[in-house]
Amino acid sequence: MPTYRIAPSLLSADFARLGEELKAVIQAGADWIHFDVMDNQYVPNLTFGPMVCQALRKHAVRADGSPVPIDVHLMVQPVDTLAQAFADAGADLISFHPDASIHVDRTLQLIRAAGCKAGLVYNPAAPIDALEWVIDKVDHVLVMSVNPGFGGQKFIPSTLAKLRTIRAAINAHVAAGGQSISLEVDGGVKVDNIADIVRAGADTCVAGS
Ligand code: DX5
Ligand code: ZN
Repeated sequence: MPTYRIAPSLLSADFARLGEELKAVIQAGADWIHFDVMDNQYVPNLTFGPMVCQALRKHAVRADGSPVPIDVHLMVQPVDTLAQAFADAGADLISFHPDASIHVDRTLQLIRAAGCKAGLVYNPAAPIDALEWVIDKVDHVLVMSVNPGFGGQKFIPSTLAKLRTIRAAINAHVAAGGQSISLEVDGGVKVDNIADIVRAGADTCVAGS
């Protein structure tokens, strides 16, 4: 039985009350905290940086004192400097879009060397070819089911086929003795489509709006 997780996105929080909003989703059972970083270059929107992550890190704890992983989704270009800054700011997972990094293999190594789990993010129209060549260095795959940049968009149905393809690749990798890799979906996840999403192979769902 896989571990299933819900990762609420702080993008949908009231930014004037971020700390309280963080505590509220943790109290409601959040498994991870999804932290959407937008740079107004890779995507046409601007959110928050490593200082905000660092400020929230100490509040991302459950009632029993256990930390709630911070799942940083970098929608930035270039990637490496900010990836390092988020690792230093207490991120647990750091995912980036491979088309935003000139040297994907190097960026994955940088994130792992900084003590974080390293993830690749695929846009709705992005091919997943690179995964085959770096799968041994990937801890996490994030599949975009909307075009990145904004919350509250509609789920793009072709995502389900992409999830099935990546799930098959991950299962084959694990069956051949490879490390485990989590598979998360991001955008337009609702109560009426989450069952189909999980059946297609996702183990983690972002929940924003
Ligand atoms: C979009 C972000 C998402 C967003 C999802 O670029 O990556 O994480 O918060 O929001 P909903 O769940 O509203 O689609
Ligand atoms: Zn996201």
